[in-house]
Amino acid sequence: MLDTGTLRLKFIALINRGSDGLDLGAGDGRWAFVASSKQARVTAIDRQPSPDSLPIGMRWIQADVCNGLSSFLESNHSGFDFMMCWNLIQFLPHDYVTDNLLPSLAQYARPNCVLGLRTFWRNPIPGFANPVPSLYRTNELVRSLKGWDIIHKEEIEGDGPSLDGTTMRHWYFTDIIARFPS
Ligand SMILES: C[S@@+](CC[C@H](N)C(=O)[O-])C[C@H]1O[C@@H](n2cnc3c(N)ncnc32)[C@H](O)[C@@H]1O
Repeated sequence: MLDTGTLRLKFIALINRGSDGLDLGAGDGRWAFVASSKQARVTAIDRQPSPDSLPIGMRWIQADVCNGLSSFLESNHSGFDFMMCWNLIQFLPHDYVTDNLLPSLAQYARPNCVLGLRTFWRNPIPGFANPVPSLYRTNELVRSLKGWDIIHKEEIEGDGPSLDGTTMRHWYFTDIIARFPS
């Protein structure tokens, strides 16, 4: 069985206590909550509303990431020490992601900022009712992350549960961990 949690746990281990982080497409907030448990201050962005209660230091911004980070982050924002982007970009327009969203992350990266990214290189089997519109090979994401040092990149596949645990699918993941230079 595909171990869907390993990359993210490896990434969480890179988060320093008391740091500032961004979770793009936070979903139900599960990974933002895990990061918060390391006393990190997490800004979670999703077009869904905030969960009912948030840990101290976490803020939730309900927004569409396709409007650009500058539409919801302050112009004088001091940046982040970590950024998570788990299972989001396959739902966004491909060229917006490669030409705008990913290149813009560098503007908000503090020295040594770590970035964790997971997406799909192929639709899962069995597929979703609506196939995801955008698929990414590792190397094209790397090209969009100019200025970042890539510390892990991998395309993996295997059987694993859906996010809500109700369905088994064969997944095709593109995984990246990158670090912004000091
Ligand atoms: C599959 S969930 C992933 C949630 C979480 N990152 C995780 O891995 O558990 C994808 C999330 O992306 C959000 N999303 C999709 N398109 C979005 C957009 N344009 N702007 C903001 N959030 C979006 C959805 O609302 C959903 O919560």
